[in-house]
Amino acid sequence: MALTLLRLVFLTISLRFIAAQQTNGSVSVGASLTATHDVKPWLSSSGDFAFGFQQVQGNDNFFLLSIWYDKIPNKTIIWYPEEGRMVPTGSKVELLRGSGLVLSDPQGTVVWRSGSIAGVASGFMNDTGNFVIFGSNSRKIWASFDFPADTLLPTQVMARGGAMNSTMSKTNFAGGRFQLRLLQDGNLVLNTRDILSGNAYDAYYISGTYNASNSTNSGEQVIFDATGYMYILRRNGQRFDLTPRGSLPSGDYYHRATLDSDGVFSQYYYPKNPTGNTTWEVVWFVPDNICEDVIGWTDSGACGYNNVCSFDDNRPNCECPQGFSLLDPNNPSGDCKPDFTPICDEVESNNAGDMYDFIELDNIDWPLSDYVHIDPSNEQTCKSSCLEDCFCAVAIYRDTQCWKKRLPLSNGKKVASTNVKAFVKYQIGDRPPQNHPRLPGEKEDRRSLILVGSVLLGTSVFVIFVLIGVICVGFFVIYKKKPRNTYPSSKAVETNLPSFTYQELVEATDGFKYELGKGAFGIVYKGVIGKKTVAVKKLHTVFQDGEKEFKTEVDTIARTHHKNLVQLIGYCNDGEQRLLVYEYMSNGTLAVFLFGDSRPTWRQRSYIAVGIAKGLAYLHEECSNQIIHCDIKPQNILLDDCFNAKISDFGLAKLLMMDQSRTTTGIRGTKGYVAPEWFRNTPVTVKVDVYSFGVLLLEIVSCRRSLAFESDYEGVEVLADLAWDCYKEGRLDAFVDNDLEALDDYKKLATFVMVGLWCVQENSVLRPTMRKVIQMLEGGIEVAEPRCPCSSFSVTSY
Ligand SMILES: *[C@@H]1O[C@H](CO)[C@@H](O)[C@H](O)[C@H]1NC(C)=O
Ligand SMILES: *[C@@H]1O[C@H](CO)[C@@H](O)[C@H](O)[C@H]1NC(C)=O
Ligand SMILES: *[C@@H]1O[C@H](CO)[C@@H](O)[C@H](O)[C@H]1NC(C)=O
Ligand SMILES: *[C@@H]1O[C@H](CO)[C@@H](O)[C@H](O)[C@H]1NC(C)=O
Ligand SMILES: *[C@@H]1O[C@H](CO)[C@@H](O)[C@H](O)[C@H]1NC(C)=O
Ligand SMILES: *[C@@H]1O[C@H](CO)[C@@H](O)[C@H](O)[C@H]1NC(C)=O
Ligand SMILES: *[C@@H]1O[C@H](CO)[C@@H](O)[C@H](O)[C@H]1NC(C)=O
Repeated sequence: MALTLLRLVFLTISLRFIAAQQTNGSVSVGASLTATHDVKPWLSSSGDFAFGFQQVQGNDNFFLLSIWYDKIPNKTIIWYPEEGRMVPTGSKVELLRGSGLVLSDPQGTVVWRSGSIAGVASGFMNDTGNFVIFGSNSRKIWASFDFPADTLLPTQVMARGGAMNSTMSKTNFAGGRFQLRLLQDGNLVLNTRDILSGNAYDAYYISGTYNASNSTNSGEQVIFDATGYMYILRRNGQRFDLTPRGSLPSGDYYHRATLDSDGVFSQYYYPKNPTGNTTWEVVWFVPDNICEDVIGWTDSGACGYNNVCSFDDNRPNCECPQGFSLLDPNNPSGDCKPDFTPICDEVESNNAGDMYDFIELDNIDWPLSDYVHIDPSNEQTCKSSCLEDCFCAVAIYRDTQCWKKRLPLSNGKKVASTNVKAFVKYQIGDRPPQNHPRLPGEKEDRRSLILVGSVLLGTSVFVIFVLIGVICVGFFVIYKKKPRNTYPSSKAVETNLPSFTYQELVEATDGFKYELGKGAFGIVYKGVIGKKTVAVKKLHTVFQDGEKEFKTEVDTIARTHHKNLVQLIGYCNDGEQRLLVYEYMSNGTLAVFLFGDSRPTWRQRSYIAVGIAKGLAYLHEECSNQIIHCDIKPQNILLDDCFNAKISDFGLAKLLMMDQSRTTTGIRGTKGYVAPEWFRNTPVTVKVDVYSFGVLLLEIVSCRRSLAFESDYEGVEVLADLAWDCYKEGRLDAFVDNDLEALDDYKKLATFVMVGLWCVQENSVLRPTMRKVIQMLEGGIEVAEPRCPCSSFSVTSY
């Protein structure tokens, strides 16, 4: 009984199998296919090729009418109707006597038809991959080979006037920016084109098989012969080889030549009887280096606008530079949009230095889009010239020459030369993470928008405009959805931050040889990575939770970008070892600068104080996840080449203790700078940093240490009390120890002391926010008479 059942099952299976194989490729009039998940395509007799509805990766409810290699796991698509429109589930293709192939959507609206043909007798899926429609007397009246999509196959011929468009991207089959054409003069060319108008731009590959006199040696056809060789047949019968002779492997292979979505025209092969993992291998391709060969005088170049092309592994790769992100996240070679819009505002141009900064990119250039050329120049003047010019988006500096460029940037590429620097301007506080995080669902949303658009709309230019409109609205909706400056806190967010192995950092620091300093969180060593000097912080390993939290926190830190914060440039999470790699600050810590042998000038000190305030305000209010520093002190403020203050060690309190709400953990921070609430049972807020900043500000003003007597906690009151006493008695000269420069600038000095006193108020509610601190320090708002910061003076309500 069981045996019979088994046999029956077996029989059914083999019958099915045979049925699938038993096709002769013929399709009779009236036959139809409906787009569903399990629809059986029309197979060629060998089963190599199939005609039907193919689901494109990621699109559950949309299908592409197409022809594909059915025996290859990937089902590589080799043909689809012009424009590559996707259709929803339930759409139908029919072979009709009166009109050939007709594709209609579930509502019955015709989406595509094979042309005005009549008298159809049958259809036929040939083993060559060609779908043919025969009329009476077996006359061929239509063939998919005559309307190539983006791929040519053996036995296919392209005549003069023939053309193929690339696809928009690997998953979007609408016509893309690249085109292959056999021109009327016999020349085979590759060119970019304007998608909307179809207008062809300059060619980036030319076969040269043309002759102005239209003579016999000009090209007549592109022929892909049955053996897999491709050539241009000249009128005089001579061949111009495209496939190099002897370049094909011997054996049984599929061959195809595809104009890929990146603009490269490549011939590929794939074994018919693969053993193990196999992929399509490239036989030859043109052009040699598309990043170099596409010169977009009127176009964006090989990649989209603002994008950067690099040629790795014989393949172009487009990547938005830092400060830009993809307009269409599914089309990496498309346009990149800047993450901020420069505003040309006269009022603001005065303090452009406070508003903008640069991301420096090595060996990246955007030729041709410059509008100012300064020769000679130096790096500094190049930058400042761009900084003060609201039109300037990028400055390129090379060999004492400076080029200013405005948006959109075209022809972006990596260049081999090592002395090209691109300075990309960005708005301070507005700088995005290096790799723009994608919101969950964003990808799907966008794609279905395009799909719906593609399906619903027809072909006219007007309709394309509407389609573009729909897409734009889609973007708008998506970008609206993305809250400004907030990023999902989930682990799904990734940054581009390089990770290093422990061994790499051992080498970079020469075995942790040069110690730069010790802090609460670890020891810092000097190192060199590439040509860059870096500071490597080896963290004390006191993690409660594992790797994910570490990565999440490091990502949070990496996503902070501000002129007054030390930039994290990499990390190591290797077994037990956790290290952070920071930019190196040549002028050491503020502690050394402030309390060293010679007192820094008042100008320098006040500049540093404002810088620290700005960095802190950014941590508190502007970065994605609010960061409370918890350990503001002069040892944690570093100075760069130009004595810009940069806050270091931010984010680490959270990282190393994993508990910002302070329930059970002990006091964080350094004696002398810690706010009183650490000792009480009140919640810890950003105001603890404001307190520490107040102490620091008084130190900066007076060049005195808050802990004059280093030994006891009373020290903190010493400086605050001294400031209070001096202020109350109008003796700021005593507080600054007769610093004449500071006394000359008395209003500012008084302001700074008053702000310092407000910041160290016992009651955290009385302390101003860092934003307000900046406004007060900069003279934007008047500072009220401070209260005594004395601990005895307690305020119950405010
Ligand atoms: C294919 O098979 C069908 C029957 O399954 C037959 O009617 C048709 O003539 C065959 N066509 C060719 C070209 O052999
Ligand atoms: C299939 O294609 C081959 C090669 O082009 C051709 O010889 C053959 O006649 C085609 N078969 C049909 C039925 O058209
Ligand atoms: C290429 O795109 C243009 C529109 O820009 C269209 O007119 C043309 O038919 C397309 N060619 C092919 C082969 O799909
Ligand atoms: C064009 O044809 C003429 C005459 O056949 C020949 O002399 C000339 O070299 C050809 N030019 C090119 C570019 O092939
Ligand atoms: C060359 O000849 C072809 C076919 O004879 C013709 O269609 C084309 O216009 C000619 N081109 C030139 C530039 O004379
Ligand atoms: C085979 O493919 C799988 C998945 O794509 C990959 O992980 C594996 O390394 C491949 N094996 C070989 C031998 O290439
Ligand atoms: C399958 O498709 C992917 C992405 O297009 C490609 O990288 C891979 O090489 C393909 N595999 C085969 C077997 O063609």
